Amino acid sequence: MKELVLKKFAEVFGDAEGAKAYFAPGRVNMIGEHTDYNGGHVFPCALTIGTYGVARKRADKKLRFYSMNFEKLGVIESSLEDLKPYPEADWTNYPKGVMWAFEQKGMELPCGMDLLLNGNIPNGSGLSSSASVEVLTGFILRDFFGFDVTNQDLALIGQFAENKFNKVNCGIMDQFAIAMGKAGNAIFLDTATLEYEYAPIKLENAKIVIACSNKKRGLGDSKYNERRSECETALAELRQVVRIESLGELDEETFEKFASIIKSDVRRKRAKHAVYENQRTVRAVAALRANDVKLFGELMNASHVSLRDDYEVTGIELDTLVEEAWKVEGVIGSRMTGAGFGGCTVSIVKDEAIDTFIAQVGKAYEEKIGYAADFYVVEIGDGPVIL
Ligand code: GLA
Repeated sequence: MKELVLKKFAEVFGDAEGAKAYFAPGRVNMIGEHTDYNGGHVFPCALTIGTYGVARKRADKKLRFYSMNFEKLGVIESSLEDLKPYPEADWTNYPKGVMWAFEQKGMELPCGMDLLLNGNIPNGSGLSSSASVEVLTGFILRDFFGFDVTNQDLALIGQFAENKFNKVNCGIMDQFAIAMGKAGNAIFLDTATLEYEYAPIKLENAKIVIACSNKKRGLGDSKYNERRSECETALAELRQVVRIESLGELDEETFEKFASIIKSDVRRKRAKHAVYENQRTVRAVAALRANDVKLFGELMNASHVSLRDDYEVTGIELDTLVEEAWKVEGVIGSRMTGAGFGGCTVSIVKDEAIDTFIAQVGKAYEEKIGYAADFYVVEIGDGPVIL
C-alpha cells in the first residue's frame, strides 16, 4: 500500500520527493455503545484496516488535498489562512478541522501541506473513517512540526475538531481507540476519567466478523445529537433526586429506584440504555478476562436488544443482520457497532462457521433489504504509524 500511495501522490502532485507515508487505523467497538458521552465505559479496538496518507510540507500556507476514495473531487485547494469552522459537504473538513483545532490550542502551523489519503475502511460505515482521518492528520502535524502532544492528546484534539468544526457532538471513544490502539487488544476505557486498560482479545477458535449494511449515514445527519440531548435532559431530571455527575455513575438498581422522576417514557428508555449498557460493558470485560467468551457474546446480544428497543438506533438493516446472525450455529455474539442508524454489526463467529455465516446472513439480508451487505473478517491492530 505504501508504494501505491506514494506513486499516486507523485502522479497527483508532480513528484513525491520529501513526502512521507503514514497509517491510522479504523476501529470497531465490541461493547459499550452510546455510553461515552454518558460518563460510562467503552470497549473498542483498533483495526488493521484504516487510512493511508502521504504528506509533504509546502513552502507557503496553501493546503492541497486529494482522496483516492473520492477521485471525482480531484485536488481540493484551501489555505491555512482560511480555516473556518463552517462545515461544507466534503471530506477535507476532517483534516482542516484538526489543523484548526491545533491552532485553537495555541499550536500554530508554520506552513501548509499537500496531503493524499487512501482509506480501506468503508466510508460512513460506523468503523470511524472520519476519526481515522482526524487522528492521522494530528499524527502528521506532530511529526512535521514537533508539537509536544501525546497520542491521547491527539485523540482529544480530534474530538475537539469533530465537535467544534464539524459540529458533531461525538464522545471520545473513536479517536481514543484509534490513537491508542494496540494489536491483539481492546481498550477498556472509562470515559468519565479517561483511565484505561488494555485487555487481550483471546477468542481461541473464533474471529471478529464485521458486516457492513451498506446503508450510509453520517453522524451529522443521524439522530446522534438528539440522543445525546435526550440523555442530558434525563440526567438533569435524575439530579433532582440523586447526586450524580453522569448516567455512568448509576447501577441498575439505583436507576430503577429513581427512574420515575424522568418525565417522558422515551427519555427514561434512553437513560436506561445508558445505565444498563455501561454495567454490561464492565461485566463483559470481566467475562473476557475470565475466558468466558460465551458470556461475553451473550452480553453483546443483550447490548443489541437494548440499542434496538430502548435506545432505538438500529433500524431494519442492522436488525436484520444481527437477528439473522443469531440464527447461525457457531455465532457467539452479534450486535450493531458504532452510532447505529446504518453502518456495521460486529459478531464473534467460530472459525468453522464463518463461511456459513457470511453466506446465510448475506442471503437473508439481500432478500429482505434489496441490496447486499459486505463482510470483513478483521484483525485488531496498532495505533497510528509512520510507514
Ligand atoms: C459514534 C461516536 C462515538 C460514540 C458512538 C456510539 O461512533 O463518534 O463517540 O458515541 O457513536 O457508541
